Amino acid sequence: MKIGRNDPCPCGSGLKYKKCCMQAQQQSQENLKELYYKRYKIRLKEEEEDIQGIRRAGDLVVQTLDLVQEVIRPGVSTEYINGLVHDFTVQNGAVPAPLGYNGFPKSVCISVNEVICHGIPGEYELGEGDIVNVDVTSRLGGYYADASRTFQVGEVGEDASRIVDVAYHSLMQGLDQVRPGNTVGDIGWAIQRFAEKEGCSVVREMVGHGVGFEFHEPPQVPHFGKKGHGIILVPGMVFTVEPMINLGGRELRVLEDNWTAVTRDGSLSAQFEKTVAVRANGCEVLTPWQ
Ligand code: MF3
Ligand code: CO
Ligand code: CO
Repeated sequence: MKIGRNDPCPCGSGLKYKKCCMQAQQQSQENLKELYYKRYKIRLKEEEEDIQGIRRAGDLVVQTLDLVQEVIRPGVSTEYINGLVHDFTVQNGAVPAPLGYNGFPKSVCISVNEVICHGIPGEYELGEGDIVNVDVTSRLGGYYADASRTFQVGEVGEDASRIVDVAYHSLMQGLDQVRPGNTVGDIGWAIQRFAEKEGCSVVREMVGHGVGFEFHEPPQVPHFGKKGHGIILVPGMVFTVEPMINLGGRELRVLEDNWTAVTRDGSLSAQFEKTVAVRANGCEVLTPWQ
């Protein structure tokens, strides 16, 4: 239930909410904003304007992933998917954030099979049994949202289906920890515990990240860690959770192109990503793909 500005204050003072505890709450949120910026360089987001803006960008990212899902089948090239994502993003008044980001040459990251992340779209045609992560980041109205899913191409084998499943549930275990008072470490702890219990491994080199005003902001959100460690989650934090889970060892190797990260042992890798906001009552997913 939401208290209106002109409603009687729930503290029982008889004053309007806006003349009473609403001010105290705004004051404490202001202090928190300053504190989190000073201490961690984290820019907390305002409920109304900022989170709404990221939510709009997030809706577009979800629509884009849904569009991609429609065309995933054997024979489709990753370059074709790049074009689709690029055109759809631009048609909707947004900018594909990967394009030119630290020199990245394409509008979306597409990572097939043993590619962990940052795959560059190209000639490669998807084949029956492949698993393919498509990672979309859009900037709309000045706000960024970032999400990815791993799709299955036609009928996939047991190993492929398993790693996709474990990666998906790893993300869900992490998101379960997102609420005020928990810590960044709780998220990584839950993901690592689950993935390793399933006999899989968690990539360490790439992490979740603050997002919204920029593509990548503080804090870093590792997908491994210790319960109770790290920064305390507070309302207004917006970040991604995006565990990369390998069927074999966690070690990676970056290809000659200086982007494509692959598993060192050649085992399959899968990833799912969402952008979330910490809210007073828990967690709001700002890229609510199904
Ligand atoms: N979207 C990736 C992430 O989840 C980052 C890609 S950086 C790029 O953080 F330059 F490759 F686009
Ligand atoms: Co991300
Ligand atoms: Co991403």
